Amino acid sequence: MKLWGGRFIKPTNELVDEYTASIQFDQKLAKYDIQGSLAHVEMLAACKIISEQDAAKIAEGLKVVAEKIESKQAELTKDHEDIHMNIEKLLIDEVGSVGGKLHTGRSRNDQVALDMRLYLREAIVGIAQKLVSLQQSLHQQAASNLDTVFPGYTHLQRAQPVLFAHHMMAYVFMFQRDMERLIDSWKRVNQSPLGAGALAGTTYPIDRHYVARKLNFEGICDNSLDAVSDRDFVVEFLSNASLLSTHLSRLCEELVQWSSIEFNFVELDDAFCTGSSMMPQKKNPDVAELVRGKTGRVYGNLMGMLTTLKGLPLAYNKDMQEDKEGMFDTVDTLKGALELFAPMIETMVVKKGVMYQAVANDYSNATDLADYLVDKGLPFREAHAVVGQVVLHCIHQNKYLLNMSIEELKVFSTLIEKDIYTVLSPKAVVNARDVVGGTAKTQVEAQLTKAEIILEEN
Ligand code: ARG
Repeated sequence: MKLWGGRFIKPTNELVDEYTASIQFDQKLAKYDIQGSLAHVEMLAACKIISEQDAAKIAEGLKVVAEKIESKQAELTKDHEDIHMNIEKLLIDEVGSVGGKLHTGRSRNDQVALDMRLYLREAIVGIAQKLVSLQQSLHQQAASNLDTVFPGYTHLQRAQPVLFAHHMMAYVFMFQRDMERLIDSWKRVNQSPLGAGALAGTTYPIDRHYVARKLNFEGICDNSLDAVSDRDFVVEFLSNASLLSTHLSRLCEELVQWSSIEFNFVELDDAFCTGSSMMPQKKNPDVAELVRGKTGRVYGNLMGMLTTLKGLPLAYNKDMQEDKEGMFDTVDTLKGALELFAPMIETMVVKKGVMYQAVANDYSNATDLADYLVDKGLPFREAHAVVGQVVLHCIHQNKYLLNMSIEELKVFSTLIEKDIYTVLSPKAVVNARDVVGGTAKTQVEAQLTKAEIILEEN
């Protein structure tokens, strides 16, 4: 007999049971469902809706059910559709018909919204903690590479040299925005929907604030229809997760490139790479590739949720049961990625010599030659044209700017003097960008200091 079987004269088709059940995946909510029920039942007694004795029996029973589920002794079945009804059934088996009083003044509609919020609240904290660890390992790599000059790219063409520390810090600040978005979303997750009932509220003299306080919610959802229909907090989380995944994926792409022979800028630790079943020489950056790849499922989960909600009338609709798997999957995917990422960055070997050779043998100091001419009075546009000619000459001669003799340089502009050789060295080029947020060592050091304070506060 179903818990709601009263008005039915026929049993449910078995395929319907199978199709509509969510117990296969929503058992993840068991812990939160019981937390919510314990708060609810305590409130029912405090408001004298049920007796203290009954409440105590129910609370006892719920704790036994929690233990049984935890230790896998409880049978969770599709016959009872979802985690909420499975738990209620287990409770009644445990304590007898008094267990049937638990659902007084409550619907699965406000109950499931509550469970989702309790789950997500905890998940966000877990993800934020892992994200700080990643920021710290990037910061650490930055601190160890304050003198490492490295090619900066635009269009994946050598542009201007930057400090590797500067590049690492770009990700620290990028992930900081993800952190802020997660933290900001918290206040919208942290509102209690319980007491909204099925959609219209309840006839019992309940105290919604009591339950909210008990469960450490900041407040309660203001409108019962909204409380049971709202999955914005899920969408918002998936959206924040998507952007975080975008950032992870961009870093992954760089790691994959940098660890190729073609770049050869870093070596990822053996512990974070895998080999080939056929080619004995291979060491593949699988983790970085897979984190990049899993971005697809995170975006998919966001699109799925948005599409599920689109066009749903108020209030609860069964469609909304589709809110769970994508959210769980996103939480697990992100946690998995972040957990691996922090130690992978920490153990990454930075090939400073190779990086230096790269910037010593390219034209990424060309802007500085133009700036030098500007300093001597030439309009920038003219200086740009002159240096373009120098570069073209060098390409034909198979040399770089620093290989040109002063006589050769003077052919292009008599403004060029011997001091040009110090101006064009990679370190000088980097340190010339001494503007706030720029790549000069002192500026990057300032970024590290600022980030230390921010990371401390996170
Ligand atoms: N398993 C359902 C869900 O996840 C719980 C709410 C069901 N409510 C209902 N009236 N059928 O959405």
